[in-house]
Amino acid sequence: MLPIGPFGGPHHMRDMTQRTNDWKRDWNHETESAAHGMVLPDAPKTKSHVQELTSVHAIEGRGPYGDPSYRGNCSGLLIRDLLRFYRPERVLDPMEGSGTCGDVCRSLGIPYEGRDLRHGFDATRKADFKGLGRFDFIWMHPPYFQMVKYNPGDPRCLSSKPAVADFIAAFRMVLRNCRDVLVHGGKLAILIGDGKHEGKYLGLPFRVMNAAAAETFWLAAPEIIRFGHGATSSRRSYSGSFIPRVHDVCLILESGRVPPKMEPRPSA
Ligand SMILES: C[S@@+](CC[C@H](N)C(=O)[O-])C[C@H]1O[C@@H](n2cnc3c(N)ncnc32)[C@H](O)[C@@H]1O
Repeated sequence: MLPIGPFGGPHHMRDMTQRTNDWKRDWNHETESAAHGMVLPDAPKTKSHVQELTSVHAIEGRGPYGDPSYRGNCSGLLIRDLLRFYRPERVLDPMEGSGTCGDVCRSLGIPYEGRDLRHGFDATRKADFKGLGRFDFIWMHPPYFQMVKYNPGDPRCLSSKPAVADFIAAFRMVLRNCRDVLVHGGKLAILIGDGKHEGKYLGLPFRVMNAAAAETFWLAAPEIIRFGHGATSSRRSYSGSFIPRVHDVCLILESGRVPPKMEPRPSA
């Protein structure tokens, strides 16, 4: 059982199914549970050699990977667990930022190629993938639309796209290019968060999944909820009341034919 922070997690939800009409009593009960810490649900035993890897990645810290001062960098711990699980022979990160995935690969002795627009590689451009060879695992952590401007003034940057539709259109080109360098059965792992734009939630994980499905990618594992320990936004105070988002989503995708009944209906 993994302990998790207050007010989170499925045990909290399980408590909610046993609610009575006495909301004050329930509220007190939940506050009390929170004070004692929450736990994640037990996961079934499997033949996995990474038993701790489940659909909730709650581990704190980031590991000695990447540069924490690079805006929008991610922890290396989920990447490490995914690489230990899938044991790929060759890994690509086409948007490597500070190189977190590269550091994890080096620590595990896995051959790695990393690229980024900041070094001139445009992941939307098919020609830029030429000569890279093939990979059985691609890690990708794209910008969350305009949340952090990575390459101001460069219209090729996904964070410079003027509208969400442009972001998704460019992202589909990236997906296509990744698909072309993945070996059969290879995995594409995308870490994506969300935020509000002009007061509305973007729903990026869902838009990215839709875009991926349109490019013949399907989920190869359950989506992984990655807790965002130590996120910059968690240290802020806000005057308004809202439900804070404290996680990102990792989609692990595989490309290929899907059962006909799961095919999207052609538009009329
Ligand atoms: C969220 S950051 C990646 C951070 C990285 N995971 C780390 O831990 O440091 C997104 C990266 O995507 C890159 N990027 C944006 N548009 C790109 C494009 N068209 N081609 C390649 N890289 C791009 C940005 O330069 C930025 O470094």
